[in-house]
Amino acid sequence: MTQAQSIAEFRRRAQARLPRPVFDFADGGAEDEGTLRANERAFESWQLLPQPLRGAATRDLSVELLGQRLAVPFLIGPTGLAGLFWPQGEVASARAAHRMGTVYCLSHGSVCSMETLAQSHAGLRWMQVFIYKDRGFTRELAERARECRFAALILTIDNQLLGKRERDLANGFAIPPRFGLREFAHYVSKPRWWWSMRRELPRLSFGNYLREGSPASVANLAGKMAGMLDPAMHWDDVAWLRTLWPGPLLLKGVLHPAEAAQAARIGVDALIVSNHGGRQLDGAIASLDALPAVLDAVGTSVAVLLDGGVRRGSHALKALALGARAVLLGRPHLWALASDGEAGVYAMLELLRQELDRAMGLCGISSLGALPGAAVLAPTRAVR
Ligand SMILES: Cc1cc2nc3c(=O)[nH]c(=O)nc-3n(C[C@H](O)[C@H](O)[C@H](O)COP(=O)(O)O)c2cc1C
Repeated sequence: MTQAQSIAEFRRRAQARLPRPVFDFADGGAEDEGTLRANERAFESWQLLPQPLRGAATRDLSVELLGQRLAVPFLIGPTGLAGLFWPQGEVASARAAHRMGTVYCLSHGSVCSMETLAQSHAGLRWMQVFIYKDRGFTRELAERARECRFAALILTIDNQLLGKRERDLANGFAIPPRFGLREFAHYVSKPRWWWSMRRELPRLSFGNYLREGSPASVANLAGKMAGMLDPAMHWDDVAWLRTLWPGPLLLKGVLHPAEAAQAARIGVDALIVSNHGGRQLDGAIASLDALPAVLDAVGTSVAVLLDGGVRRGSHALKALALGARAVLLGRPHLWALASDGEAGVYAMLELLRQELDRAMGLCGISSLGALPGAAVLAPTRAVR
């Protein structure tokens, strides 16, 4: 397969390969998808101010994050059901991340269980969980993650009620996929995906939820999962999880500076400024627009990461120049996974690595550790 030259090209390839309900499940957002679009557009409100005479013949793209050195400042964020995009999609993506020298975050809603991932992947992995009505289940997931040697725990806070994703509703997207006449037409129209997934589809499941000895049906689980989450979740729960999990704890879905400051006081190690890729609260602020106030609120007391709309190496550079320590990739990873499995995800990471390296070289930046902040960026209006 020829090398894709942009994330947009990976998206087109995924669209060509995936049945529409599966493509839309990843591609879509909540309601009018305004926040989804705003995430991408926000990167246009900043422009780079190059200083080529600083001399950046070689560039160091590595960053220090929660006690680890990563080769690049982008991680693969948690996305449920990656195993629907490629056989054993989670393992494939984790391997690609490992090869690139970065982190793979496993979603609560992965097809493969955290135990399976731990056995088949030697790299750096973080585990994402929620606060469930049954706090014992949150505890169980955290304990299993510790036994499986996940290096960090991510608590996602913006998903306690499921966003209204109208593309999924219109497509009748369901897990496991339904096979009525309409659905059948979607699936047979993509024979390559269908053929590669023929053995996976009948046993597709949410690996982390299948407790030993209780082979709950996936359809049952999918229906129940949203109801298992507790919208009454509160700061006490974060403090409780802090006592349970001795390693690095991240809070994902922080947009408000007051919440960021409170998280830092409670002893959370890092924040992910995120609106769930516009899949939850449509009308929520774009992640990049929320970043400066969050950084002001926490100073250097915790590491601040960002996700949402990162589609270019220069986007990562802008987020880092504003003060983010690293960025996470959601959809780009699924599009690349759908287009060519592990090789596709690695190619996508390499593409972003090259784009970032080139942008740094053209800006005269030799190291991300020494990013001169404001000197790199100007608000779009100021440059016009
Ligand atoms: C198909 C899909 C599934 C997702 N599942 C989860 C999840 O299980 N847990 C979570 O914290 N975030 C989940 N996310 C959100 C991503 O982690 C991330 O916040 C978002 O995709 C970033 O935006 P981007 O897609 O523009 O990169 C999911 C996103 C997508 C696209």
